[in-house]
Amino acid sequence: MNLSDRLTHPIFSTIGEVAATEQLETYVVGGFVRDLLLNRASKDIDFVCVGSGMDLAKATAKRIGSHVHVNYFKNFGTAQFRSGDWDFEFVGARKESYQRDSRKPIVEDGSLQDDQNRRDFTINALAISLNKNDYGTLVDPFQGIEDLESGIIRTPLDPDITFSDDPLRMMRAIRFATQLNFYIEAKTFEAIARNKKRIGIISRERIMDELNKIILSQKPSVGFILLDQSGLLELIFPEFCLLKGTETVDDKSHKDNFYHTLQVLDNICQSTKDLWLRWAAIMHDIAKPQTKRFDVRNGWTFHGHEVLGSKMVYRLFKSMKLPLGAEMKFVQKMVYLHLRPIALTKEEITDSALRRLLFEAGDDIDSLMKLCEADITSKNKVKVARYLQRFETVKQKLKEVEEKDQVRNFQPPVSGELIMQTFGIKPSAAIGTIKEAIKEAILDGKIRNDYNEAYAMMLEMGKTLGLTVVKQ
Ligand code: CTP
Repeated sequence: MNLSDRLTHPIFSTIGEVAATEQLETYVVGGFVRDLLLNRASKDIDFVCVGSGMDLAKATAKRIGSHVHVNYFKNFGTAQFRSGDWDFEFVGARKESYQRDSRKPIVEDGSLQDDQNRRDFTINALAISLNKNDYGTLVDPFQGIEDLESGIIRTPLDPDITFSDDPLRMMRAIRFATQLNFYIEAKTFEAIARNKKRIGIISRERIMDELNKIILSQKPSVGFILLDQSGLLELIFPEFCLLKGTETVDDKSHKDNFYHTLQVLDNICQSTKDLWLRWAAIMHDIAKPQTKRFDVRNGWTFHGHEVLGSKMVYRLFKSMKLPLGAEMKFVQKMVYLHLRPIALTKEEITDSALRRLLFEAGDDIDSLMKLCEADITSKNKVKVARYLQRFETVKQKLKEVEEKDQVRNFQPPVSGELIMQTFGIKPSAAIGTIKEAIKEAILDGKIRNDYNEAYAMMLEMGKTLGLTVVKQ
């Protein structure tokens, strides 16, 4: 197969010329070739040459012009430069073998075939020649093209060797299967299950990078189910596995919260690409196992799971080395509030309840509504349709209240400063009491979110607290 007409970026012909003058056998390799054949846009290109990758990068940059800044990574013998939003990496073909307890390879120079042998999957081991005699020819020693066509993830060598060399590849196999909607060949999958414990030598950050890519795919449940079936999920996120299973007492069963959560996650992927809102979906019921109770009157309950769950978010993010700043706080807030809009569909919807929800959710109200809508799952389609209809009413009413009362980002209409000036008092508890009472009155709809009404209430409150007006 010749792909020269697909190599449209000028870098390919430039490198072809450099390869000829420098007499360096050179190829495009890896993810770029895979994505080119799958018609997926990719702007990261890896070049491999039989010789020094650093020399190839240097000669290429020289030919392109002085504005190119090449980064050299001497320890790895690789080089990289950017051009616009394209990223080019250069590496010499290598033969690698890994030590058992470390990802650090012992590297030796090798041929193209050696280099392809040491790659993770057949679909990632494809190369395209940039050499004069066969420019554009696909070099495919492991029938990677057939695997691409039939949607199969398979290692080029014995999978026990490939995964033992770099255990992160077990996560990568599942990530590619999820992103590309591919099937992991049985022998390869069995090797993941067999080697799962080796994931222990990989850093949490790198594991989470892969998990986040699974979460950002179109249907993350596929990846989670594969992680579970291989036994990896139990090792990297055991709390999630605790959601599995149902229990029945007196003919009453609760739903399987593992599959429910995956359904919520898939649902929310229809309405957001935001990684942290997707994480909120993963975490929303995380404390259900710890809060589960059964009694004859109420059946199964999970009281307080939103409160405990939001507390668990910090510990889980910390242990998984996920960011602990605004992202984590957002997930906590979503978990904490996730029952509120749903509760509104079950009762008479009052403006006061809507205002309180808007006040607490603030600018995250739209995200919260997406999470709650995604959380409406049931095998009974009629039930789902009925809930969704009521949910639409809540959404509509929220909009009306928001337009009317503007409490989404509530700012007190009278300030502490004004209270102090009016009554001639120093900072004290009375100021907090007055401000809180005004806020509550606005949220309850007793007064409007308006300066004059709030001012009148402040005077009223001052009187009951025994304060005298010194400045009007
Ligand atoms: N590779 C590997 N083992 C790894 C990581 C990468 O064999 N653990 C090889 C594969 O041939 C891969 C190439 O290095 O195609 C480039 O890796 P990377 O840029 O991490 O991934 P891509 O395959 O390009 O995919 P993506 O950009 O989606 O991460």
